[in-house]
Amino acid sequence: MQLIIRSVFLLSVTKLSFGATTGDTSEVSLYQNYEGVIPNVKSAMLGSIRTSWEQGTAAGGILEYDNPEYSVFGRSPFTFNGTEPISALQLAYSAAVRQTADGRLSQNINDALDGAALDGASAGSVVLMGSFTDESRKAYWLHASEAELNYVLNVAPRTSTGAISHRANSRQYWADGVYMGFPFIAYYGAVTQNQTLLQIAYDQCRLYRDALLLDGPTGKLWGHIYSDDTKSWIDKGLWGTGNAWAALGMLRVAVTIQKAGCCGGMTSQVSDLMAWVKEILDGEFAALTSDNLIPDYVIGGSTFDDASASAALASVAYRSVTLFPHQFGSNYTTVANKLRDAVLSRVTNLGTLSPVVDPLNWDAQGLLSTEAQSFALMMFSAWRDGLSP
Ligand SMILES: *[C@@H]1O[C@H](CO)[C@@H](O)[C@H](O)[C@H]1NC(C)=O
Ligand SMILES: *[C@@H]1O[C@H](CO)[C@@H](O)[C@H](O)[C@H]1NC(C)=O
Ligand SMILES: *[C@@H]1O[C@H](CO)[C@@H](O)[C@H](O)[C@H]1NC(C)=O
Repeated sequence: MQLIIRSVFLLSVTKLSFGATTGDTSEVSLYQNYEGVIPNVKSAMLGSIRTSWEQGTAAGGILEYDNPEYSVFGRSPFTFNGTEPISALQLAYSAAVRQTADGRLSQNINDALDGAALDGASAGSVVLMGSFTDESRKAYWLHASEAELNYVLNVAPRTSTGAISHRANSRQYWADGVYMGFPFIAYYGAVTQNQTLLQIAYDQCRLYRDALLLDGPTGKLWGHIYSDDTKSWIDKGLWGTGNAWAALGMLRVAVTIQKAGCCGGMTSQVSDLMAWVKEILDGEFAALTSDNLIPDYVIGGSTFDDASASAALASVAYRSVTLFPHQFGSNYTTVANKLRDAVLSRVTNLGTLSPVVDPLNWDAQGLLSTEAQSFALMMFSAWRDGLSP
């Protein structure tokens, strides 16, 4: 029933927005096709065992899908609108309950020794969201997010340039960290109207790009992992998902700064961030395989088709075109649509994306990737929100 109502709603909104052309009609029937697949994609994500970064990434995807009004892409995401975003808060609650004493969310799994500095912060935004959407636990949510912010800003090691290390016991840049840590710092700044934090989030993205950017066969892209301790690469490959993490993170920081409403005069930071997002989309989209998917690595690793990075980068393209149409032309939508079709037509009977990179072994295919499941939710939501903005 809900499926029918939402489809009819979309059809009418689409007509209002774009006029009833043939192209719109085919987008709507595609929407109706894919809409039925997504609940299975979501339940496969919720059914999967999760580590700290997967918990935060899952929460981010489910928020965009179930309660888009509170994702940073919503109209006024930093205030309560009367609806409790229950599914995202459920994931946030588990992240906070499994917080370690040093402040890292979702960290108390097995021996709590996985050594990540930034991964736990991936749940930081949804935990802080609890402070204004779940009044009964306001103090709990505030305390948990404050402890996570304190860890990231004051406890995690810093590299020689002042970048926050992705690792807790060494100084390393991982492209992943740009999604894990910096959107949370920006979100905290927006919610508490603190421009210093928005600037820190921007600076961290800039420092990570400075450290990881390389020339590749299809343009500039980010290497995966660089050690500041040994001044050498740990993974110099241009990893699709690594570049996707960086683009997802920088896009969120840019939009959060823009929506914060407190801090005029940060337009150059937003435009830098979106230029760096575009740089990644250009490099990765130029590497599209014959199956219309992103390769696991553009260079420096396996090159099999990866639906995980594909979904993540398609989500970035849809959001970027909707938010910054002058900078991102319709050619980005064209590629995003190809990726969307390639990804969603390959979803298995269990709702799993396939083929995907193994999140624990970046050079190999895996059977199930929690982050890939979440990226599909982000991609679908970004496409949906762009059809009826
Ligand atoms: C809150 O946001 C949701 C989703 O946009 C919307 O359906 C609902 O009407 C909003 N509630 C209020 C009170 O504005
Ligand atoms: C903004 O955040 C920074 C970093 O946490 C903090 O030192 C500063 O006191 C905050 N400023 C305000 C006005 O709250
Ligand atoms: C889209 O077109 C612009 C302008 O021609 C170009 O700079 C950009 O590289 C293109 N991007 C893609 C993904 O095709």
